[in-house]
Amino acid sequence: MKISRIYLAALIAVSCMVATLISISGAAFSQSATPADPTDAGKHVFQRANCMGCHKWHGNGGGGYGGDALSLRQTQLTREQIVETVSCGRPGTGMPFFVRGSYDATKCYDMLRKDAGDQMPPEANVFLRPSEIEAVADYVIAHIKGKGEPTYDECTAFFGNGSRVCNVYKTEAKPAEAEQAKKAAQ
Ligand code: HEC
Repeated sequence: MKISRIYLAALIAVSCMVATLISISGAAFSQSATPADPTDAGKHVFQRANCMGCHKWHGNGGGGYGGDALSLRQTQLTREQIVETVSCGRPGTGMPFFVRGSYDATKCYDMLRKDAGDQMPPEANVFLRPSEIEAVADYVIAHIKGKGEPTYDECTAFFGNGSRVCNVYKTEAKPAEAEQAKKAAQ
């Protein structure tokens, strides 16, 4: 009988300790958890709607299957203008329209399909809802517009840490880092 009482007491003591540990680590976890980036939804659209197929992950564009996509880093467009460009595409270029019924159910740049004629922009492979277009415009403004050359940190933020796609940016950064390390050592 004695033994089982001791055993029981030990069991209670251990489970109390475990409970305390769990609550401590839980508190530490909630403190260190960073709030989600509000533009994550827009980043998701940027990937899913394949904006990056033409504009590249960094937005600098270049030759894609839709012709030379303009640099979204250098764009002068406002949020509203970006929303319109994505919704309606750009007549006479490879920039597709992403809203179902553009130039049919709704006019774009005051044009219907017949007015646009051979300037009619291509239809996107994926249609987007207005909220998704606003999200992608917010993403472009927060992470792409007005940024300089793409960096390693931006690349890993886009693709995730350790992504080999980003190594090309790493090697560019290395000489500068080595230089700094050398200076610090002197
Ligand atoms: C099929 C290729 C293609 C895809 C996909 C594409 N674009 Fe474009 N985009 C272009 C091209 C080409 C242009 C350049 C139009 C021109 O020459 O005026 C452009 C232009 C733009 C512009 C205008 C930039 C400026 O400064 O005038 C914006 C904004 C834009 N794209 C955003 C997006 C977003 C956001 C997506 C995804 C939802 C997307 N694009 C998907 C090809 C593409």
